Amino acid sequence: MKIIDGKLLAQNLRAEIAAGVAKLKAEKGVTPGLAVILVGDNPASVSYVTAKEKACAEAGMYSREMRLPAETTEADLLAQVKALNDDPAIHGILVQLPLPKHISEKAVIDAIAPDKDVDGFTAVNVGRMMIGERCFLPCTPHGIIKLIEFSGMDLRGKHAVVIGRSNIVGKPVAALLARKETNATVTLCHTGTPDVAHFTRQADVVVVATGRPGTLTGDMIKPGAVVIDVGVNRIPDATKPKGFRLVGDADFESCSKVAAAITPVPGGVGPLTITMLLWNTLEAAAGGELRVIS
Ligand code: GUN
Repeated sequence: MKIIDGKLLAQNLRAEIAAGVAKLKAEKGVTPGLAVILVGDNPASVSYVTAKEKACAEAGMYSREMRLPAETTEADLLAQVKALNDDPAIHGILVQLPLPKHISEKAVIDAIAPDKDVDGFTAVNVGRMMIGERCFLPCTPHGIIKLIEFSGMDLRGKHAVVIGRSNIVGKPVAALLARKETNATVTLCHTGTPDVAHFTRQADVVVVATGRPGTLTGDMIKPGAVVIDVGVNRIPDATKPKGFRLVGDADFESCSKVAAAITPVPGGVGPLTITMLLWNTLEAAAGGELRVIS
């Protein structure tokens, strides 16, 4: 059984990205700039945003943090996004989700200029992805494809089962797995699927993204399957300094006894999400001219 080391893959890719940033600065005098907007103080969001800012600095990019109070109005937030759309120092704009309930996520996401939408969340980018046009691929799904390749599995002709149909992970990862370049056969399971195990037992690779610990257990997978665990769940744990520990959506203990390879939580998918965000920001700054990464 192999643990798929997301930190190592992320480190390798980030070295390539940092080299690309240095090249773009030297040849074009352009420093890739990412604006990160966080509204409110959701603890998971604060830690994601902090990690994104640190990763940007390490790659030699410029990052502008905008931490706004939870009471920020939708009109104010839309005005901030529009100002960033017109700011030449900013190549990528990321609005951390979820937003407070009084703000429409759809309105805010669709206000981001598609050529600065480094999360790949706007309707324009999603549409481009679905019809195979050049676009920013959504970061977590793109990172998942990279992790499966890194595990040594050739996805062509394989059966991939995705559990969860969110707009951020489940739906786009199913679409990427089914693209001709990847060529997997894809089953998308969700809360309306009566017997998820019936499908996962046939799977060569299972991607679990439900936000529910214990969604996938060892008895639900085929021996030798690859398991990609997208979940990040905080479980209260008085023995830990922070009072909680992180677990995924898969039961690591039982799945790791049956799978050929599995991503750990933390240290699996998470580092790739941020890496692919840096990748998209570099691509945005290079305007499609620089192909340092494949
Ligand atoms: N919330 C959870 N994941 C993400 C992500 O990838 N991007 C943004 N903007 N918000 C998120």
